[in-house]
Amino acid sequence: MQRENVVGRANVEDTAELEAYYRDLEKRDLGALWNVANDIEPWYPQPKSVPMLWKWRDVQPMVRKAADLVTAEKAARRVVMLVNPGRKEWSAAAGLLYTGVQIMNPGEFTSAHRHQASALRFVMEGKGAFTVVDGERLTLGARDFVLTPNGTWHDHGVEKDGTQCIWQDGLDIPLMNSLDANFYEVHPQTVQTPSPLSRDNWTRPYSPVFLYKWDSCFSELRKEKIFEYKNPLTGGPVMPTMGARLELVNSESKFKRHTGSVIYQVATGHGWSDIGGQRFEWEEKDIFCVPSWTRYRHGAPREAVLFSFNDFPAMKALGLFRESHD
Ligand SMILES: [Fe+2]
Repeated sequence: MQRENVVGRANVEDTAELEAYYRDLEKRDLGALWNVANDIEPWYPQPKSVPMLWKWRDVQPMVRKAADLVTAEKAARRVVMLVNPGRKEWSAAAGLLYTGVQIMNPGEFTSAHRHQASALRFVMEGKGAFTVVDGERLTLGARDFVLTPNGTWHDHGVEKDGTQCIWQDGLDIPLMNSLDANFYEVHPQTVQTPSPLSRDNWTRPYSPVFLYKWDSCFSELRKEKIFEYKNPLTGGPVMPTMGARLELVNSESKFKRHTGSVIYQVATGHGWSDIGGQRFEWEEKDIFCVPSWTRYRHGAPREAVLFSFNDFPAMKALGLFRESHD
């Protein structure tokens, strides 16, 4: 127990009589709030996630090895997950966000499925990758951003005449499991038959645009330094629980912190981030995370572009988003 000598905070000394009482409570599946109150009601967020940098030079050989060891068919999704040491039991890269790196050889595909978790992906390399979302077939190139929103049927693959393709997946799986709201279904067809998807009278709670091509996003980014992937109908985030953006870094930013976690992939260039008092040096394709309420800033000697996704839409929808520049 964390005792605090502050009015309004728990500060109960142990006595033999109390200790016997605590044991009696435990036997009855009961407990004394004052023994845990200061831990479960912290003054400010205490994320279990720690700041992490996964270097591509370490991740890449392990991802390529997966392609040799396991078939895409047997694995269903052949992905190497990025696991935060503080959030192992949730398979989270940070907070409520999951991320992994998926590899697919020419001619391979993952079978069609859908889940309550929302998913997004940022293509790292390769030619000939495609994804089919609710019947719509989309062709993906390096640094393209694609959505498979919650509840949409999706399957992925690489054309026979393509090259080995690698992309980063981002999902809100830990959020869905924290809320005990996750579902998973397998499509009756192994691979969906492509068919046009009508956008008339779009009432779904996510963007009607599923694919955001790198070239057009990058040219927008050059104008504003921040490019938010948006739902064009609402101007808001692409999905109800997760947002994503590109940011251009060419100097050192000011420190900030906010509730909600962010997972980054270095799209181009190299630089550094100070996160929770630690310095991380990053280069292209490295992946790193900023846990909730952790003070951070980014810097780069020359122009670098960071792709990132976050759980800000979930935080904002619940009225929990808070930021500070101190
Ligand atoms: Fe999926």
